[in-house]
Amino acid sequence: MAYDYMTNVRPADMARINTPALAEAFIEEQVASLREQIGDKKVLLALSGGVDSSVVAALLIKAVGKQLVCVHVNHGLLRKGEPEQVVRVFRDEMNANLVYVDAVDRFLDKLAGVDDPEEKRHIIGGEFIRVFEEEARKQEGIAFLAQGTIYPDILESEKGVKAHHNVGGLPEDLRFELVEPVKLLYKDEVRMVGKMLGLPDNMVYRQPFPGPGLGVRCTGAITRDRLEALRESDAILREEFDKNGLAGKVWQYFTVVPDYRSTGIRDNKRSWEWPVIIRAVNSVDATSASIEEIPYALLNHITARILNEVKGVNRVLYDLSPKPVATIEWE
Ligand code: XMP
Repeated sequence: MAYDYMTNVRPADMARINTPALAEAFIEEQVASLREQIGDKKVLLALSGGVDSSVVAALLIKAVGKQLVCVHVNHGLLRKGEPEQVVRVFRDEMNANLVYVDAVDRFLDKLAGVDDPEEKRHIIGGEFIRVFEEEARKQEGIAFLAQGTIYPDILESEKGVKAHHNVGGLPEDLRFELVEPVKLLYKDEVRMVGKMLGLPDNMVYRQPFPGPGLGVRCTGAITRDRLEALRESDAILREEFDKNGLAGKVWQYFTVVPDYRSTGIRDNKRSWEWPVIIRAVNSVDATSASIEEIPYALLNHITARILNEVKGVNRVLYDLSPKPVATIEWE
């Protein structure tokens, strides 16, 4: 049965998309209705590489091919390998019309010396809109803006918890008609649809990642060297969790590099370097979180790798604080 996906209310009898067959049916239905809605016009999408925007991109590529213009903004706060993966999957493998914007210097210059977490978030969010707006203005004939809104976003925005529009804040003349093909789906359904669209598992089953990215894990004023230590230590943690079967089991895991140094010894000389803090938590909806009991031998191995491989780091700590009283992120 075909549902009206234009409304913001999920029909009570809509089956949970939890089998490949249901996902295929959804894709087929969506492709037809997207083709009808879009016609021969162009659609713009901010593609972060997160689950929701990636699934929307894949659906639209299937429906309208090169009429979709994906804009991937690299703000310098993505994890190791992420921008490269977005380009590889979408431009190389799916043959998408992808604009890659290297805005690393622009973001990091704006953030230099800013240590207040909320101001950092504000700068990252604001600059993102400006970069996206500039790219939107370079495109001709855009009629639609696609967004990876999902059903929990709609429910939360109705409750006034948060505004759900990912690219809210664009100026009046760039307020295109919205295309939100997964807005009635829950996260598990979005993942199932993504899998059936051929997206790689590490994109579809990605752990939650905050919009301001590594920016809120490089605490205080962000510096490029500390950001590099954060990116490298996070990559080691992810690699070890992958190898040891924890990647699909632990809800969210990452490293933090605080703006603080301590004494150590390196090459028989006194060193003055940063700590890396490991965080690995389990949660259902992020409102509370408990700590994963990482096997001690694995913790030791990860510690040794970080101390050996990450420049500027002389200590590794494991954060044992649940939420509440702590929050998941450090900022
Ligand atoms: P906290 O730190 O509040 O995090 O316990 C709860 C969940 O939300 C994520 N988070 C964010 N996501 N923008 C986002 O898109 C943000 O500014 C932000 N801050 C926290 C966090 O990663 C966790 O999953």
